[in-house]
Amino acid sequence: MKRLTVLVSGNGSNMQSVIDAADNGILKGLVEVVLVISNNPSSYALKRAENKNIKTVCMERKKFENEKSFNYSILKELQNVKTDIVCLAGYIRIVGQDITDAYRKRILNIHPALLPKFGGKGMYGRHIHEAVINLKEKKSGATVHFADENYDTGEIIIQQEVEILENDTPQDLADRILNVEHQIYPKAIKKVIENLK
Ligand code: GRF
Repeated sequence: MKRLTVLVSGNGSNMQSVIDAADNGILKGLVEVVLVISNNPSSYALKRAENKNIKTVCMERKKFENEKSFNYSILKELQNVKTDIVCLAGYIRIVGQDITDAYRKRILNIHPALLPKFGGKGMYGRHIHEAVINLKEKKSGATVHFADENYDTGEIIIQQEVEILENDTPQDLADRILNVEHQIYPKAIKKVIENLK
């Protein structure tokens, strides 16, 4: 069993899909979700994790002197629970080099677009889907990739396309992509774990 920690900032529906896959789906017997860390005390993801009796830690950046000490405390939490894999699931910060050095090729992120297009700083949430529609793209999608010290640049693990329909609003597209995200995140984790063996 690989020990997995999820980093979140918001709703946590992707985190939920990972927890569900570990409970009853394709990650059953392969993964145990041992910790959820949120940088946001009002993240609904914290409630979801508590409902599943998963340990939670909330760490707000403003309570730390600087970025390095903030990320270092996260690293300590990861090491305390002996995590093997880290999943960023709607985590709005970059994790910093201390963490990426300690967990190289073991930190995954999910992004609601076909990277390398529509990634980078400022490309999150609604901004992505608005840009995709404004540029009259024919397709968008979801990407799971290894996280590094930058936004959305690490090696791609799994990508799935989503067709853009006429009259799609950014919200329509976001909803369809989110469904796909929930399917591919557990698959990507499985693929990474199989390669660790
Ligand atoms: C998802 O679209 C994910 O790709 C992006 O942030 C969103 C998080 O949604 N990084 P949720 O918190 O998992 O519901």
